[in-house]
Amino acid sequence: MTGRIDGISGPTVNVKMPGLRLYDRVYVGHAMLTGEVVRLAKQGAVIQVYENTAGLAMGEPVRGAGLPLAVRLGPGLLSGIFDGLQRPLQRLKEEIGPFITGGQEISALDYTRKFHFFPQKNKGEEVKQGDILGYFAEGAFKHHLVSRWNGTLAWLVSGACRLDSPIGRFEDGTEIPGSLEWPVRVPRPYRRKLTVSDPLLTGQRCVDFLFPMARGGTVILPGGFGTGKTILEQSIAKFADVDIVVYVGCGERGNEMAELIDEFGGLNDPWTGRKLMERTIFVANTSNMPVAAREASIYTAVSMAEYYRDMGLNVLLLADSLSRWAEALREISSSLEEMPGEEGYPTYLASRLSSFFERAGTVETLSGATGSLSMILSVSPPGGDFTEPVTQACMRATGGFLMLDTTLAHRRHFPAINWLQSYSLYEKSAMAYFNGSLSPAWEEAIRRCRDILSREMSLTAVAEIVGHDGLQDADRLLMRTAETIRQEFLCQNAYTEDAFSPPEKTLAAIAAILQGHDSAAEKITKGGTLDEIVP
Ligand SMILES: Nc1ncnc2c1ncn2[C@@H]1O[C@H](COP(=O)(O)OP(=O)(O)OP(=O)(O)O)[C@@H](O)[C@H]1O
Ligand SMILES: [Mg+2]
Repeated sequence: MTGRIDGISGPTVNVKMPGLRLYDRVYVGHAMLTGEVVRLAKQGAVIQVYENTAGLAMGEPVRGAGLPLAVRLGPGLLSGIFDGLQRPLQRLKEEIGPFITGGQEISALDYTRKFHFFPQKNKGEEVKQGDILGYFAEGAFKHHLVSRWNGTLAWLVSGACRLDSPIGRFEDGTEIPGSLEWPVRVPRPYRRKLTVSDPLLTGQRCVDFLFPMARGGTVILPGGFGTGKTILEQSIAKFADVDIVVYVGCGERGNEMAELIDEFGGLNDPWTGRKLMERTIFVANTSNMPVAAREASIYTAVSMAEYYRDMGLNVLLLADSLSRWAEALREISSSLEEMPGEEGYPTYLASRLSSFFERAGTVETLSGATGSLSMILSVSPPGGDFTEPVTQACMRATGGFLMLDTTLAHRRHFPAINWLQSYSLYEKSAMAYFNGSLSPAWEEAIRRCRDILSREMSLTAVAEIVGHDGLQDADRLLMRTAETIRQEFLCQNAYTEDAFSPPEKTLAAIAAILQGHDSAAEKITKGGTLDEIVP
């Protein structure tokens, strides 16, 4: 199926070509740039090109792939670094050098690499859709191969195999490939959604203790310029208690991403001791890469994340930042001359975002296992204005809101999470979990910590009128404790040993502060003065 370019407007191209379907993948021009059909017209279609369109000319050929924009899913994705169209950047560099021009078609999976396959079904056995045929050894993981067919097995490989030829066959002749293609815009199937209940530990005291995240949940980190969004996302990528992390650098600085990838090479997972890189997939669509591919990059990432979820694993998708994705959407929409909504974003911004968040959750997979896909996404509202459309649309669709505060960041209080305005809807289930698995002291400590921080706020207002010395000793003690909680408990330097705090350490730290407070308070009630007790 081929046609001709009939018009070019920035990243969108009009093409005269019958027979295309919405969201079909197309190759544009002599350079074979990757594009996607975003609107059908009378005699052709409008195509969104995901690569730089400079140099394209009218009349150049356009070829339809006959398939939607898809990712390749199979063993070998872990520790990979991909661009927004799932091209493996390391292999691209080896093959064509550091300057990637458009139209490079290279598979995400390495077909020359050998994997070890352990079959779990035998020749002659009846197999149903969703059954686990066996698994590949991929680092520490059992990479399940789930059957997409019903049938009787005629043959299944055992031992070393490559992905470029079938690894099994059914009696009716259907071949079993070791990998598959999946259209990025379509959520991968599962049996049913389960309620989200287990907490997802991040190693960040403020998050785990005050605003816990849940496996299968969604949280946004909105914050103005320089409030620590990237550092927090990166810290969570290093320390989160999950099986797999998919990290998307979406429209942010390329050097930050490069440094992160470099750093990851030498780090170990604090929960398992294995190499952190082994459980991580990077999707880089940084600010120096084509804008249009940013729109596709989060779908590429979420499809890979769902694939590992389907093996019964806990997967975390991190993206920095969703605002840059929304800006790419706005750019595409304006080049399509669609009716703009609030602040120029398309009117379907909120529905696109919520259907993206819908792909998170804890599910019963087709093979009956439980897997989860969680999302923690940063949002960069221009001027730190949280009433802007992207933050608002995200807030309506997600379960956690960790507001990063410019004033706190200026005071170098990091992570700059505002403890009075942030919230998490997963608080109750996390509390029940910690009370049961760790200590009932957890809930009491949270209640007291919140109480001290909110009383500090009202006492600060009083102190502004009567002066700090005008306060009673018990109140001055409370303000001291609140300050300790803020500076020693809620602050966590990402560049020191303290960057990771497991729940036992978190509980011990807050318990020590509260104990210190209680013993000082007791001395005050017995007639001591604060200056004597804590000189
Ligand atoms: N947890 C932390 N510990 C120590 N320093 C931090 C921490 N978080 C942020 N910082 C400091 O704040 C600076 C800005 O952080 P970061 O780059 O994450 O902000 P950002 O919100 O991503 O900014 P931008 O809006 O420009 O993307 C960092 O360079 C670092 O110096
Ligand atoms: Mg940043």
